[in-house]
Amino acid sequence: MLRTVDSFDRIGEENAFAVLARAGALAAEGMDVINLGIGQPDFPTPDNIVEAAVKALRDGQHGYTPATGLPVLREAVAADLHRRFAVETDPDHVLIVPGGKVTMFTAILMFGEPGADILYPDPGFPIYRSMIEFTGARPVPVPIREENAFAFSADETLSLITPATRLIILNSPANPCGGVTPRTEIDKLVAGLADRPDIALLSDEIYDQMLYDGEEHVSLLTYPEIRDRLILLNGWSKTYAMTGWRLGYSVWPGAIYDKARKLAVNAWSCVNAPAQWAALEALTGPQDAVAAMVAEFDTRRKLTVELLNTLPGISCIPPKGAFYAFPNITQTGWKAKALASALLEETGVATIGGPDFGVLGEGYIRLSYANSQDNIRCAVERMREFLSR
Ligand SMILES: Cc1ncc(COP(=O)(O)O)c(C=O)c1O
Repeated sequence: MLRTVDSFDRIGEENAFAVLARAGALAAEGMDVINLGIGQPDFPTPDNIVEAAVKALRDGQHGYTPATGLPVLREAVAADLHRRFAVETDPDHVLIVPGGKVTMFTAILMFGEPGADILYPDPGFPIYRSMIEFTGARPVPVPIREENAFAFSADETLSLITPATRLIILNSPANPCGGVTPRTEIDKLVAGLADRPDIALLSDEIYDQMLYDGEEHVSLLTYPEIRDRLILLNGWSKTYAMTGWRLGYSVWPGAIYDKARKLAVNAWSCVNAPAQWAALEALTGPQDAVAAMVAEFDTRRKLTVELLNTLPGISCIPPKGAFYAFPNITQTGWKAKALASALLEETGVATIGGPDFGVLGEGYIRLSYANSQDNIRCAVERMREFLSR
C-alpha cells in the first residue's frame, strides 16, 4: 500500500512531457509533427563537450565522484560565476546536481511544510507549484502580467508576504513568458526584504545567457546582503544544449549547504562522472557555440513574433529572454488548452496551453522557438489555416 498522507494527491507534473509523448505517438502514426512544445535547444551538444565525455569514459572515469561533485568542476562553476558576474563564490557551497530541476526539488523540500507559505511566479515553471503542494506548504502565486511585459513586480511580491512566508521563487529570464526582471525590481525586492531575514530566495537563472535586445542578466548573486539566504539554480541544460545529460548546479548559503549535501547522498550519490567532465569542458572550453545558438534563437524569436502577429485573433509581445513566445489567444474565442490540443491533433503543431503554467496562463499558449526557421514558418501557416476555418 502507498503511504497514506495525501501529498501524492497534490503533486503535479510537467505537461510538456505529456505533449512530447503525444507528439511522438502521432508522428509514429505517420503525422508530420512540428514540436514547439518541449523546451529544449534543437542544437546538438557542441563537439568539444561530447568529446570530453567520451575521453572521460575512455580514461576510466567510471566510478562515483564526491556527492557534491568533482572539486575541479565546482571550482570551474565558481570561476565562471566570477567571470560573468564579478562575484566571489566558495566552491564548497556549489553542489553539482542531476538537472536544474533537482535544485528546486531539494530547496522546496527543505523549506516547505504545512503552515508555511511559498511564493512562486504564475505563469511559471509548473514544478514550482507542484513541489510546494507536495510538501503541504501553501502555494502563493505571484502574478506575471502581459501589461508589465511579463516582468516580475517587486511591489506585488512584497504585498503577498505574510508572517508564514518562508521562501520566494524567482525566475528570470522566465519560462514560459520570456520575461526579464529589470534591475530596479530586484533592487526593490532586496530592499523590501531587509526586515525579513528569515525569508529565503530561490533564484532560477537557468536561462541567464539567453537574452535579446541588449537586455542584461542581473544575477541575485550580485546582492551581498542576501547571499546568506540565496539559493541559486543554474545548469548546463539550456546554455550548452545538454538537456538529456541531466546536469545542473546550485549555490547554497553556507549554513544549509550540508543539508543539501545530505539529500544528495540519500537520493543520487553523485552525478554521473563522464557528464561532469563534459560539464567542465563546457565551462572552460570555447564559448562561441553558445553565442551562435543565442544569435540563431534571436532570429527565430523575431520571426516567430512577426508571424504570430499576422494570425487572426492572436497577439504576441516580443519575449526578452529564454526561447519561448507566449502569445495572447483570447480573441480567437478558444480556451488555451483546447486550442493547444486541437492544434496538435488536427494540424500536428505541438504547443503548450498557458494554464499548464498556472491559472494566469489562461488566454495564452506557449511556443518554443527552439526549432528551425522553416518549421516555424510551416507551423504558423498551419495555425493560420486552422484558425481561419
Ligand atoms: C525555468 C526552468 N527551470 C529549470 C528547468 C529544469 O532544467 P533541467 O532540464 O536542467 O532540469 C527548466 C526546464 O525547462 C526551466 O524551464
